Amino acid sequence: MKRAEFYTGEPVEPLDLWFRDPFIDQIWEKLRRQHVLISAPRRTGKTSVMNHLASNPRDGYLVVYQNVQDLSHPAQLFQTILENFFELNQELTKQLAISGFGMLKNAIEFVRKNVDSVSAGGFKIALRNSDPDWERNWKQHGESLLAAIRKSQRPVLLIIDELPDLILEMRDRDETIVRDFLAWFRVQRQNPVPSQDRVRWLIGGSVNLTSTLDELGEVAAINDIAIETLPALTRDQVIEFVTQMLGAREVPHDSDVSATVAKRLGRPIPLFLQLATQDIYRSWRSNPRKISAKDVNAIFDAMISSQAAQDKLQHYHSRIKLHYKQPKQSAAYSILGQLSQSSSRGLSRRALLSEFFGHLDAQGWKSSEPDKRRQFNQLMRDLENDFYIVEIDDESYDFASGLMKAWWKKYYA
Ligand SMILES: Nc1ncnc2c1ncn2[C@@H]1O[C@H](COP(=O)(O)OP(=O)(O)OP(=O)(O)O)[C@@H](O)[C@H]1O
Ligand SMILES: [Mg+2]
Repeated sequence: MKRAEFYTGEPVEPLDLWFRDPFIDQIWEKLRRQHVLISAPRRTGKTSVMNHLASNPRDGYLVVYQNVQDLSHPAQLFQTILENFFELNQELTKQLAISGFGMLKNAIEFVRKNVDSVSAGGFKIALRNSDPDWERNWKQHGESLLAAIRKSQRPVLLIIDELPDLILEMRDRDETIVRDFLAWFRVQRQNPVPSQDRVRWLIGGSVNLTSTLDELGEVAAINDIAIETLPALTRDQVIEFVTQMLGAREVPHDSDVSATVAKRLGRPIPLFLQLATQDIYRSWRSNPRKISAKDVNAIFDAMISSQAAQDKLQHYHSRIKLHYKQPKQSAAYSILGQLSQSSSRGLSRRALLSEFFGHLDAQGWKSSEPDKRRQFNQLMRDLENDFYIVEIDDESYDFASGLMKAWWKKYYA
């Protein structure tokens, strides 16, 4: 077997993807009858799984992947889908055009007549120019696309990565767009019912979609979608990863090295597992020796202050500013600051509640006691859903990731 590579941020190539085979089987199985949402926190491997689905399709599917993180309107979503379609399979795109999708037919005609080679760039421009009123007509174009796929030979799986970001962008631009889109999208997913449909949607994102929709009062907009949670790596898997990666590179190490990595990681965010193991390997390469648990601890301590960790961890800190509204936003920083200084036993829910109340008072927030409690419960749920914290035993909480806890303490407590 080929030696697995280290990945420290970019999506993992299908051949180097660890421990995800059962999950991938499960997704294909679910897709037979339902649309699917992959739910998982940041940096745990959603995009890598989606790439695997796209490059190893099953059941005759054509898989079209798009990342919609930087989009802010449904019109852009459908333009992107069409561009990716064109890039992936021009024959099928032509078939879709012929089957009665007038606007697409015009775009392809235009490219054929005006551009020497039928390039993706030419198509993109032609597509945008084929309707000066794209934004107003997005529903019509979206419906034409779906109708054309339904008439075609192959089932199509549309993967929409980072959909919650698109929803938040639409919300910030104009709330009526997002409500309109959610209602429309739900109808399209139900008519026909998925088991009778050639179109399948797989959506995912790092921001919690349910909480995003909850804030808009729109959770029901996705209650038809099967939610598949990417499983957290187990302690045994962490140990296997470290043992295999070091073994394949012939790095001699004590028997407790992989268990020490597992312990220092806490909840193992796959990216941090990769970073830590790569650091061990690099440390050995620059100073060949038998690696011990003490070396692992020193490597972790150094890693917390490293630029690499800073780059990777900073967004966990920043995204609270982006996605949490006041007063939850500053209260989240205050609670996480306290928690980062706690022992490995974490802090009790009561202690965190009192921290929360104290914070609201200091900020001059005037609200009733039940209101404050409701906000506290919501905040705790969000911090748990977004994987900052976990309940470690009855009514006590701690940071979910040991690495993040140490980093938070160093820079933000
Ligand atoms: N199955 C896996 N085996 C080993 N490492 C993995 C695995 N999945 C993810 N990783 C690690 O996580 C990193 C991020 O992977 P990926 O981009 O797929 O995650 P993501 O959940 O889509 O991230 P984001 O939340 O930023 O979109 C990879 O560079 C790699 O270090
Ligand atoms: Mg991703």
